[in-house]
Amino acid sequence: MKKFNSNQILFVLGVVLFASCTGGTQSEKTQTLKDAFAGRFYIGTALNEWQITGQDSASLEVVKEQFNAIVPENCMKSVEIHPAEGEFDFTLADQFVDFGEQNNMFITGHCLIWHSQAPEWFFTDSLGNDASRELMIERMKTHIHTVVGRYKGRIKGWDVVNEAIMEDGSYRNSKFYQIVGEDFIKLAFQFAHEADPEAELYYNDYNEWFPGKRDAIVQLIRSLKSEGIRIDGIGMQGHIGLNSPSLESYEEAMVAYAGEGMKVMVTELDMSILPNRRQDVGADISTKIEYEKELNPYTDGVIPQEKQDEWDARMVDFFNLFLKHADDVSRVTLWGVSDRDSWKNDFPIHGRTDYPLLFDRNFQPKSVVAKIIQLTKEE
Ligand code: GLA
Repeated sequence: MKKFNSNQILFVLGVVLFASCTGGTQSEKTQTLKDAFAGRFYIGTALNEWQITGQDSASLEVVKEQFNAIVPENCMKSVEIHPAEGEFDFTLADQFVDFGEQNNMFITGHCLIWHSQAPEWFFTDSLGNDASRELMIERMKTHIHTVVGRYKGRIKGWDVVNEAIMEDGSYRNSKFYQIVGEDFIKLAFQFAHEADPEAELYYNDYNEWFPGKRDAIVQLIRSLKSEGIRIDGIGMQGHIGLNSPSLESYEEAMVAYAGEGMKVMVTELDMSILPNRRQDVGADISTKIEYEKELNPYTDGVIPQEKQDEWDARMVDFFNLFLKHADDVSRVTLWGVSDRDSWKNDFPIHGRTDYPLLFDRNFQPKSVVAKIIQLTKEE
């Protein structure tokens, strides 16, 4: 039998030690999301305040390892970044952009004009009455020029207008619409383009698979384009559930927007695993406690395997759809890193324990991660 000399034994031991320190040989390593989807679309996540300031370092490790695109969950919304007239707070937004640049990520700004998380002053005059149309337009212009201008050339794409159209295709009756009229959308895109002519500009909304809403957005794209206004893409918020929307209706909307020459972005993907309250509308108030318990069934972290399988399978179906349309889909962004951080724990019912994202509360990849990575190898 061949004998090994001490040098050979030391070499073998060294290789074994090196492999265990580095987590195994390359072939044994699990591929990351960003490597798996490279060449297809960006895979992104929203960052919250604790991540942006570096306090949640465990999340940041996942972000750096797995994602190549970021969007701020809250810090660029007008109530945060422009709390009083003439007063901007860029503290978090600056750190957010620095982080993205340091890690070579595609940075999206979110969001310039939105009826929600907007400061009260934006809509009122010095007497407390509704601002005039002229004043509102001036404020929109200042807001957009200042925020977009500050990150010119650094933020590559902006959600310019968020959630302006209703499911039936009508305009949302927001203060922007009431005071400025439907032109507020056009003006917002125009101001954003003036502030950074190179930046991509997007319209972002939820439930865009509703036919009325989908068709109205198609009309909006056409009307902006016919007036020579830049619009590059449609952000489809992906706040989905186990039963809705259907893959078909989601796909129809993707195809409709792509057909107008738009980049399609899945901008806020999360999928609740919890029962949907809407199915319980009309529940007798006296049964509320029981219903609340029923609507929050996995507080101890244990999800029945068949429920987890159902969730995984549906997430896989959606990623399959995104891959099928990878020529049109430019980015898929999760609305948060780990289940611990998700807004779905508090919406539509406060204080629930939901599991809507790709990483668990200990920042470990959930079973679905390997499955969606596997999809990229089957094409
Ligand atoms: C909308 C907004 C997001 C976020 C979610 C809820 O989808 O676009 O910024 O506020 O609601 O977290």
